[in-house]
Amino acid sequence: MTLDTLPALDRRTALVSAFTVPKGFGDQTLRERRADAIELLGGIPDPSVLPARELAEATARVLSQPGQPALQYSRTEGIPALREWIAAREGVPVSRIVVTNGGFHGLALAIQTTVERGDLVAVDNPIFPLFLRGLELSAARTLPVRVGAEGIDVEELGRLLREGARPAALYTVPDFHNPTQGSLPLEARKELVRLAEHYGFVVLADNPYRELRFSGPAPEDEPFNHSERVIHVNTFTKTLGPGLRLGWLVLPDRLVPDVVALRSRQDSHSSTLVQGVVAELLTHDPGIFDATLDRARALYASRARALAEALEREAPGEFDVEVPGGGLFLWPRLRDASIDADRLAADASAEGVEYQRGSFFPSGPGTDAARHLRLAFGDTAQERLVQAAVRIGRALHRQRG
Ligand SMILES: Cc1ncc(COP(=O)(O)O)c(C=O)c1O
Repeated sequence: MTLDTLPALDRRTALVSAFTVPKGFGDQTLRERRADAIELLGGIPDPSVLPARELAEATARVLSQPGQPALQYSRTEGIPALREWIAAREGVPVSRIVVTNGGFHGLALAIQTTVERGDLVAVDNPIFPLFLRGLELSAARTLPVRVGAEGIDVEELGRLLREGARPAALYTVPDFHNPTQGSLPLEARKELVRLAEHYGFVVLADNPYRELRFSGPAPEDEPFNHSERVIHVNTFTKTLGPGLRLGWLVLPDRLVPDVVALRSRQDSHSSTLVQGVVAELLTHDPGIFDATLDRARALYASRARALAEALEREAPGEFDVEVPGGGLFLWPRLRDASIDADRLAADASAEGVEYQRGSFFPSGPGTDAARHLRLAFGDTAQERLVQAAVRIGRALHRQRG
């Protein structure tokens, strides 16, 4: 009996076991690679578009404040100036913001607050593996929900719920999905919130790429910020730099005390100094965040286009390539089923380019993630991206003989 012929509930149980963290996750450095390898591995922002000078100036101002408040303890929820800035940007009351040590920390807090041991958690299929790593501590079971060109398939989720699935939470990346790059349309967001409210699960909306939209204004309405059933997880990682380890949660009012209580049993609060510096950066010149984003968006949009064009030039007809609408990744799909995607990655490594194979992202039937490559273009200069495409083209020729 194949997976497709199993009754729905058994099929789900079978899928659950497929969703584990891939072997070697986080061990990139252990693999041998060429000294001149071009690494298109992680969603890393380019240093040229991070506001290093402005952060240095903000640090100097913060450290010259009388009494050195930035070197003292501060509130578990985060310092007021930073929470106020975030709340204004999110369009929610300050009371709903809790500052975190980045997106992954926010996810960990959200999981620990909403998922009991053994609970069922509906998740993106394919999924960003780090979320599964966070879930391991809760010994939760997973219910994969297909992610299509426009984010998580809310219709499929609705079907699974009507068939009897009762998740405690659902995890998805709504904007510029990692890895598949789609964004969930407004109507689907509203329907997801409606399902969460009806069936009583919590949506964990993980949104690190939201601000890296290449063109057009951000949608005015964000349904994820207006429901008792959503935790919206965000981070300054992709916009101001991952080394800051600074992010935030937009929580429903009812969950704020739980998250704060949990946090007060762990690390008390995020670094007062880092929060103070970032708050100073963002409020001293109110235009700085958007100006920083504009530079980043223009750079990433041109890199995405350059890489897509180079792939088409160096490997004509081999990939379905779509230039994403934002974010830091290209997700090309191998057209020819006779090309072995694992062998291609090994040959590409021998040619001197490292990327994440689609199979790195746990996925079940109904997706073709394993036929994809995830190419990160954020921190690689255009000439190197073009060179990477040349090397991928050579790797394909090796297989074609
Ligand atoms: C989908 C997704 N969630 C969370 C994170 C983690 O963000 P942070 O570095 O702020 O912990 C990343 C980073 O790559 C990501 O891609």
